Amino acid sequence: MAGLIPKSFIHDLLERADVVEVVDSRVPLKKAGRNYQACCPFHNEKSPSFTVAPDKQFYHCFGCGEHGNAIDFLMKFDGLEFPEAIEELAHMMGLEVPRETTADPAADAKKRAQESSDYEQMERAAKFFAHQLRRHENSAAVIDYLKGRGLSGEIVKQFQIGYAPDAWDGLLSALAKDQRSKDQLVDLKLINRNEQGRYYDFFRDRVMFPIRDRRGRVVGFGGRILDGDGPKYLNSPETRIFHKGRELYGFYEARQANRELEQVVIVEGYMDVVALAQAGISYAVASLGTATTTDQLQMLFRATRRVVCCYDGDRAGRDAAWRALENALPLLNDGVELSFLFLPDGEDPDTLVRKIGADEFRKRLDKAQSFTDYFFAHLTDTIDVNSDSGKSLLLKQAKPLIERVGSEFYRDTLMERLARLLRREASQLAAQIKAPATQKAPQDSLKMTPMRRAIGLLVQHPQLGREIPLHSELSALKQPGIQLLLKLHEQTQAQELTSAQLLELWRGEPEEKPLRQLARWQHHLDSEKVTQEFFDIFAYFIDQFVEQRANELLEKERTAPLNKVEKQEYLTLLQYLKDRGKR
Ligand code: GTP
Ligand code: MN
Repeated sequence: MAGLIPKSFIHDLLERADVVEVVDSRVPLKKAGRNYQACCPFHNEKSPSFTVAPDKQFYHCFGCGEHGNAIDFLMKFDGLEFPEAIEELAHMMGLEVPRETTADPAADAKKRAQESSDYEQMERAAKFFAHQLRRHENSAAVIDYLKGRGLSGEIVKQFQIGYAPDAWDGLLSALAKDQRSKDQLVDLKLINRNEQGRYYDFFRDRVMFPIRDRRGRVVGFGGRILDGDGPKYLNSPETRIFHKGRELYGFYEARQANRELEQVVIVEGYMDVVALAQAGISYAVASLGTATTTDQLQMLFRATRRVVCCYDGDRAGRDAAWRALENALPLLNDGVELSFLFLPDGEDPDTLVRKIGADEFRKRLDKAQSFTDYFFAHLTDTIDVNSDSGKSLLLKQAKPLIERVGSEFYRDTLMERLARLLRREASQLAAQIKAPATQKAPQDSLKMTPMRRAIGLLVQHPQLGREIPLHSELSALKQPGIQLLLKLHEQTQAQELTSAQLLELWRGEPEEKPLRQLARWQHHLDSEKVTQEFFDIFAYFIDQFVEQRANELLEKERTAPLNKVEKQEYLTLLQYLKDRGKR
C-alpha cells in the first residue's frame, strides 16, 4: 500500500484538468450551447443525452444517471480504482502523484516492506519454476508434455509456465535462506512444515501456472500433475496476498495482449486459457476452481462490455454457469452484455479449439446464448409453463432474480419475456416486480426542501459561497442539513472551487451520495435568478433562526427571569421580526 494521495494534490489536479478534454479523449464530444454532448458511453442510446458541463467540470447522463468529475469518468470508463484514476489523470497532465504518510508511518512502512517482499518472493518462485523447466533433468519430458498439448515455447514464456521439480527441497533450498524467509514461504504456502518441524516443497513434480493479479504481480500458482497419483491440480491456498474469489487466471495476460478488450471469455481451466491464447484467442480467463464471483465479474466488466461464460455442457458446467449468472445480476447495467456458450459433451475449450480451429470457435462465441435466453431456458427446463402451477412456479422463481437486476433495460426485457411465457400483460407484471432500491431515478424521488435547494444551488454554483457572509450562528438552527450547508459554505468561501472540486472534497464521506444527487438536480433557474434564490433561502433560514431563538428565550423566561444580555438579545430579535414584517 502506497501512502495516501494528498487531498491538495487532487484539488490541484482537478484545477488543471478539463473534464471536456478528458472525456473527449475517450468519447468524441460535440458542442451544444454552453455544454458538450455525446451518446452516452455507459448505456445504449441513439440520441445523445450524455452532457459535459465545462463550468461545473462535471458530466451527467440524463438517460442512465451516470455522472461525476474527470476522476469518476476515468474510473468508470477505463475501469480504474480511485488511486489509479488519479495516476492516469496526473499522467495525462504530465504530473507526478505525491504520497503522504499516515498516522503510523512505522507500521505502514513495515506493512509495505512485507508486501513488496511477498511479491518479490512469489516472482522469484515463478522464475525458479520457469528456470527448472529449462534446466531440470526431467526437463525434456516436461517440455514434451507441453508440446504434446500443443503449446509453443512462446506461449509457455508468455504465461511463464514452469516446472516444480520432483524433490522435497527444490524451491526450499533455492529460496529459503534463513528462518525468516522459511516462515515467509510457509505463509505464502510455497513450502509446508510438518509436525516434526521439517520443511518441504508444497508443489512437487508439477507443471506450474503462475497466477497474476490485475497489476501483473504473481499471487499464487496452479500446479498440474504430469502423471502418477494425486489430485490433477493443486492450487495455492489463500494467503495474505492471494484471495481466490478476487483473482482470475489469465486476466493480466489478456490485458497485456489486447489494447482494448472487446470481450472476455470465462473458462474453467488453466489449460483452457493457455490453449485458447495459443490458438489466437487471447482474451480468456479462468476462475480458480470456484464459481465466478461478483468481484471477479465486476473486475471484468470494468475492462470490457461483453463477457461470455464458456462452460462444459455437463451438470457441473451448467451449475457453474447459473451461479455466474446469479452473481452477475446486480452488475447488469445498460451497455454490458453477458452470454453463455455450452460446449459439446466431453469437450473443453482446449480440446474444442484444437479440433475446430480459432475461427470456428470465435463464431461460436459470437453466437453464444444471450443472458435472457439462458435465463429462461434454465428456469423453464424443469417447469411446464403451460400449466397454471408451472406458471406460478416460474413467476415465483423469476421474480426475486429479476428484482436484483441493476438496469432498467434488462429488467424490462426479462419482464416482457416473462409476461409472454405467462401469457400476461407486461405492465401487469411490472407492478409486482420491484426495481432494486438503489436504482431509483434521483431527480424524481428527491423532495426539494429549502435546505436541499440551498445545498443543491451551492454545489452547482460554488461561487455563491463568496457572495454571502458566513452565518456560523445558524449552526444552532434546528433544521436537518444545516451543518452540511454551513460546511459547504465554508469550503466554497475559503477558495474558488468548481462543482467537481467541491464534490471531490466529499468523496467517501456519508454525505457524498446526497451531494451527488443534488449536483444533478435540475433547478431550471436563469443564472441571475440563481443568486436571488440562494439569497432568499438564506434569508428564510435566518428568519427561522431568529424565531427559534426568540421562542427559546420566551420559553426560558417562564421558568426564570432573563438576565440583562438575554433581555437585550430578545429585544433585538423582536425588532428584527418587526422590520421583517415591513419588508
Ligand atoms: P487438463 O486436464 O490439463 O486439460 O485440465 P483442465 O484445465 O481442462 O482442467 P479441468 O477441466 O480438469 O478442471 C478445471 C479446473 O478445475 C482446473 O483448471 C483447476 O483449477 C480445477 N481442478 C481440476 N482438477 C482439480 C483437482 O484435482 N483439485 C483441485 N483443487 N482443483 C482442480
Ligand atoms: Mn482440459
